[in-house]
Amino acid sequence: VSDNSVCVVGAGYVGLVTATALAENGRDVRILERDPRRVEQVRAGRAPVREEGLDAALARVVGDGRLHATGDAARAMHGAGIAVIAVGTPQSRNGGADLTQVRAALRSVAAHAQPDTLLVLKSTVPPGTTRTLAPLASRDERSLPLLACPEFLREGSALRDVRNPARLVVGGDDAEHCARVAALFATPHTPVIVTDPTSAEMVKYGANALLALKISFVNELAHLCDLLGGDIDTVADGVGADPRIGRAFLDAGLGFGGSCFPKDVRALEDIAGSVDHSFWLLRAAIEVNVQQRRRVVAKLRRALGGNLLGRRIAVLGLAFKPGTDDVRQAPALDVVEHLQGLGASVAATDPQALDNAGPLLDGVDLHTDPYRCCENADAILLVTEWPQFRSLDWMRVAGVVAGRIVVDARNCLDPGALVAAGFRYEGVGRGAPSRAGPWAAELNGQSVQRAAQPA
Ligand SMILES: NC(=O)c1ccc[n+]([C@@H]2O[C@H](COP(=O)([O-])OP(=O)(O)OC[C@H]3O[C@@H](n4cnc5c(N)ncnc54)[C@H](O)[C@@H]3O)[C@@H](O)[C@H]2O)c1
Repeated sequence: VSDNSVCVVGAGYVGLVTATALAENGRDVRILERDPRRVEQVRAGRAPVREEGLDAALARVVGDGRLHATGDAARAMHGAGIAVIAVGTPQSRNGGADLTQVRAALRSVAAHAQPDTLLVLKSTVPPGTTRTLAPLASRDERSLPLLACPEFLREGSALRDVRNPARLVVGGDDAEHCARVAALFATPHTPVIVTDPTSAEMVKYGANALLALKISFVNELAHLCDLLGGDIDTVADGVGADPRIGRAFLDAGLGFGGSCFPKDVRALEDIAGSVDHSFWLLRAAIEVNVQQRRRVVAKLRRALGGNLLGRRIAVLGLAFKPGTDDVRQAPALDVVEHLQGLGASVAATDPQALDNAGPLLDGVDLHTDPYRCCENADAILLVTEWPQFRSLDWMRVAGVVAGRIVVDARNCLDPGALVAAGFRYEGVGRGAPSRAGPWAAELNGQSVQRAAQPA
C-alpha cells in the first residue's frame, strides 16, 4: 500500500471536492459511494453537487484517469494507504449527530484495509466519537489507526478552500500517523495543528458554534436597532473594526442555516447535555435563530397591514446562501412554511436551488426568472443574497408587482434605489429613524480612503 493511493468515502460536497483536489495533486484516488447514480455521474466527469469550478476540475482528473468512482469497497480500498471518510452526519431526531453513515463507511473500509492503512474521519463527528468508534476500525481482530481530521470548507468556495486550507487540524495518537495525514492535505503554507482526536473534533464544533453565536448576537443587536433606532450595518462595521472581534459573520439577516451550522450547534448542545453540561449560550443562539425567521415574517406581515391571508408573496432565493444549490436547513423553507401557514400564496425563484427545493415545497409557484416571480406580488421578500437579486432592475420590478413592498431579510439591497423606484423598503435593523444621512456614508468613504493611503 502507498499513501499515494487514497480511498475517499462519500461523493458529496466534502468527499467529492476532497477527492478532486487530491487527484489534482497527483494522488491516485478512488471514491467509494453507495448511491449508484452518483457513481455514474462521477464516472462521466459530472459533479452530483454544484460547486464553483468543480465540474471542470472533476472532468479533468477523471479524464486523466486519476480519479475513479465505485460502489465496491474492495476495489476502492485496493492498495490504499489512507481512507478518508466524508459521509453525512445529519441531525437525528433527538438533535444529536446521526452516525449511521459513518459507522457503515468505517466498517466497509476497515474490512478491506491493510495493516498500515490509516482511516481518517473527515465527517463532522461530536467530540469523543473517534475514540468511541475505534473498535470498528479493525480487521481480523487487528486494530487499524483511526484519526480525526475535520473539514472546514465553505460551500460556494469549497474547491478553493480545500486546495488552500486556512488550517489543518489532525487528531491522532501517533506522531507518524498524524504526519502522514498532514502530508496528504496540507500545502507548504497551511498552519497545521496536531492534537488528540477529541480536541480535533472539538475544534470543528467550537468554530461553528462561535460563528453561530456571532450571527445570533448581531441579529439581537439588529432587533434592538429596530426598536431603539440605529443602523445595524454601521454598528457592525464599528464593532467589527475591533481586531479582537472582526467584521466577518456580523451581518444581520435571517440567521444561520445550511447543512452544517444548525445541526452542528444542536449536536454540540446534545453532547454537552449527555455529560450533564447545559451549554446556555448555545441554547440562546439556537433560540434567537428560530425567532429571527419569525421576526422577518412578522415584519412582512406588519408591512402588509397585519394580515397575509390571500396575499401573494414573491420569495427571492431558496439556497441557504449564495453560490450553492444546497437547501438543507435553508431559512427559505421555514419562511415559506410560515407564510403559507398565515394564508399567503408564495412564488419563489433561485438561480441554482430550484431542483433541490422543488420537492420540498408544496404549493409554491417556482420560477427561473425573478421578474416573472414578482408578477402580481403584494410584497417581495429577499431571502438569499444572490448577486442576481442585488442587480435587479427595480424600476422594471415596480412595473409588474401588485404592491410595492420589499422586505430585505439579508440587508443586501440599496434602500435608496428601492425607494427611488417607489417601493417601501424594510431591512433588518436598518433604516431606523436615526439613520445618518448620505453625508455620513460620504465621510466614512473618505476615512476609508485615508486609511488605505500609505502613511
Ligand atoms: N457541506 C459542507 O459545507 C461541510 C463542511 C464541512 C464539514 N462537513 C461535514 O462533512 C460531512 C459530509 O458532508 P457533505 O455535505 O459532503 O454530505 P453529503 O450528504 O453531501 O454527502 C455524503 C455522501 O456520502 C454517501 N454515503 C453515505 N454513506 C455512505 C457509505 N456507507 N458508503 C459510501 N457512501 C456513503 C452519500 O450517498 C453521499 O453521496 C458531514 O459530516 C458534514 O457535517 C460538511
